Amino acid sequence: MTQTDPNRVLIFDTTLRDGEQSPGATMTHEEKLEIAQLLDEMGVDIIEAGFPIASEGDFAAVSEIAKQSQNATICGLARANFKDIDRCWEAVKHARSPRIHTFIGTSPLHRAIPDLTMDEMADRIHDTVTHARNLCDNVQWSPMDATRTEWDYLKRVVGIAINAGATTINIPDTVGYTAPEESADLIRQLIAEVPGAEDVIFATHCHNDLGMATANSLAAVAGGARQIECTINGLGERAGNTALEEIVMALKVRHDIMPWSTGVDTTRIMNISRRVATVSGFAVQYNKAIVGKNAFAHESGIHQDGMLKNAETFEIMRPADVGLTETNIVMGKHSGRAALRSKLNNLGYELADNQLNDMFVRFKALADRKKEVFDEDLVALMRDTAVEV
Ligand code: KIV
Ligand code: ZN
Repeated sequence: MTQTDPNRVLIFDTTLRDGEQSPGATMTHEEKLEIAQLLDEMGVDIIEAGFPIASEGDFAAVSEIAKQSQNATICGLARANFKDIDRCWEAVKHARSPRIHTFIGTSPLHRAIPDLTMDEMADRIHDTVTHARNLCDNVQWSPMDATRTEWDYLKRVVGIAINAGATTINIPDTVGYTAPEESADLIRQLIAEVPGAEDVIFATHCHNDLGMATANSLAAVAGGARQIECTINGLGERAGNTALEEIVMALKVRHDIMPWSTGVDTTRIMNISRRVATVSGFAVQYNKAIVGKNAFAHESGIHQDGMLKNAETFEIMRPADVGLTETNIVMGKHSGRAALRSKLNNLGYELADNQLNDMFVRFKALADRKKEVFDEDLVALMRDTAVEV
């Protein structure tokens, strides 16, 4: 499966599968349908809607998402056995564009679990990918723990999967072990050395155990990957998966050095981030890139002053690009006169310089007692002052 635009990167969202595997992040059926609809509307290319054999609930959710989806390809996960693959197909077959994603752990540690020899596993991969391809034209195959799999064996099994009909080869960094240069080289070498690699799309699927998931995913794209697997808010097991919002905003903001594009409407990011946080019960950390409460907030006087003069002084993205109405100027003990004047102006107060000086003293005294001074606090302070406005 070759793409027409060589710089287009497909966004594969797995919030509803890998994200939901996060302990405690379970979502209800209705919540999953709602998130899937938001993903579909925002322009995600492939939605991994669940693991159909895992439970009746997962099967029902994947089937419904497949029926409701208007644009995205709908994918389900299946282990490397016919029963899983058949169940997955039963759920995704309703989609306008269905995909079966089948996987098996190929590293020495993972091979030991089903206790298969290298040859036995190679045969299993051939048989299961062939079976999936007989059901569906669109088959993704993943060697789980690829980044800790012996190079020669990885090359061999990727070749087998391609031969058996896989259309996407996903290279998971299951335990977040790789580093950017290695991630790029791995994809580059697979594309260069595996026969038939030019006929499939290579995907990257990174976990964030060392905080490098976004960097590793972007490096994989530099190496030739054209599908990035990610989740909203980076939801996922342990330290999570690559965060969708980081990928699409990095590609948008640094298009000068990373000339790849996605089909995602970034103005929908904040809304879906909040919905995923609410339904999963996983609050977003305040300083999380792109979607954290503080990502567009400024408290220090120097920053606020700079922001009031020119937003680009301390912001590389416009809040509107991610669906926020405005930058958040947080009033606290580090804030300066310029920010106080601007806040008061917005609240309808025009102060002369001596009046502002008086208010500033009162404001600082309050800010020393409170973490954040809200608009209501400023209005109360104005009422309590002798300042005539
Ligand atoms: O992290 C991983 O290896 C996975 C696979 C199932 C693709 O999530
Ligand atoms: Zn994963």
